[in-house]
Amino acid sequence: ESYDMGGHDTYMHKEIHEQVDAVDRVLRGRIDDRFSTVRLGGLNLDAREARGVRRVKILGCGSAYHTGLIGAQLIEELARIPADAEPASEFRYRNPVVDPDTLYIAVSQSGETYDTLAAVQELKRKGARVLGVVNVVGSAIARETDGGVYVHAGPEVCVVSTKCFTNTAVAFALLALHLGRIRDLSVADGKRIIAGLRKLPEQIAEVLSGEEEIKKLAAEYANAKSMMFVGRVRGYPVAREASLKLKEVSYVHAEAYPASELKHGPLALIEPEVPTVAVLPDDDLLEKNRATLEEIKARSGRILAVAHREQEKADHTIVVPRNEVELDPILMGIPLQLLAYHTALALGRDIDKPRNLAKSVTVE
Ligand code: AGP
Repeated sequence: ESYDMGGHDTYMHKEIHEQVDAVDRVLRGRIDDRFSTVRLGGLNLDAREARGVRRVKILGCGSAYHTGLIGAQLIEELARIPADAEPASEFRYRNPVVDPDTLYIAVSQSGETYDTLAAVQELKRKGARVLGVVNVVGSAIARETDGGVYVHAGPEVCVVSTKCFTNTAVAFALLALHLGRIRDLSVADGKRIIAGLRKLPEQIAEVLSGEEEIKKLAAEYANAKSMMFVGRVRGYPVAREASLKLKEVSYVHAEAYPASELKHGPLALIEPEVPTVAVLPDDDLLEKNRATLEEIKARSGRILAVAHREQEKADHTIVVPRNEVELDPILMGIPLQLLAYHTALALGRDIDKPRNLAKSVTVE
């Protein structure tokens, strides 16, 4: 895409709407229907090496770290390799044990974030294999890593990441599928995930067509004292990212917690002035999540749910289309980008250049 605003008032709005084409681009030319897998040309990890991986560790900062949380879940679910994500900024300062059987993955939109680059350099110095999941082709992290997956989101100008977040999550789904099919993921499951991936662009367009409704909701919640974001397992990274998005662009204070952690402390914050955004995919945890909504309602908390069907315990529900459960985090984040955007607009914020922030943090 060009740097032209293309009729949008802000780059953030433009980039949110570019997601239909951007997701199409990250998939293009990579699906291999014959073997129900994907081809990732630049990965530089052959099947024998992929089978030898005992653990995956994903490193990134901010939104990139949040995509790493999604990526780790996808890799565990589809490839059955233990995986986790950690902020690169923490990892590099704690003298981590670098294990030769662990595959390290650095994730970054710009490919220039200093903390992530420093983590890569430290890992390389200790002989680790490091892949990159990066948007900017030829960037420092892309150059320093042994191989990887380009995210192909196109240029992202707004300081607040939207389309690159979504495309990176899709790139992780591709990587997880690829590793899974080399290991124990069945042909049938491979086909199922591929069919789900192919549905994404159309489903993203469907979510974006609900923008007017989300704008009204944003006006209703914009004066909140603070917002609580909750989700369980697949919904949790979505809650983390949505909370960061709202803070960055609207300056409304927000907290994100695993839904199950509410009763261990944050429930004390719930009151009518502190609404909760609950991410409730229609998976095996839905009943547990509904019980959380009841706990919030019992404390007079207002609830905005993002779910696959109307939630009667919630004050409002944004309904998103169903896909395969593993891919839920990809679609469920998108209405919450619009919520952050319209909250910021309602509050008159400088959307493309929020105060105190830079697009890429290239210093310590
Ligand atoms: C995203 O909305 C943020 N502005 C920020 O958290 C960003 O994701 C982070 O600084 C990492 O940037 P990178 O992806 O370019 O490495």
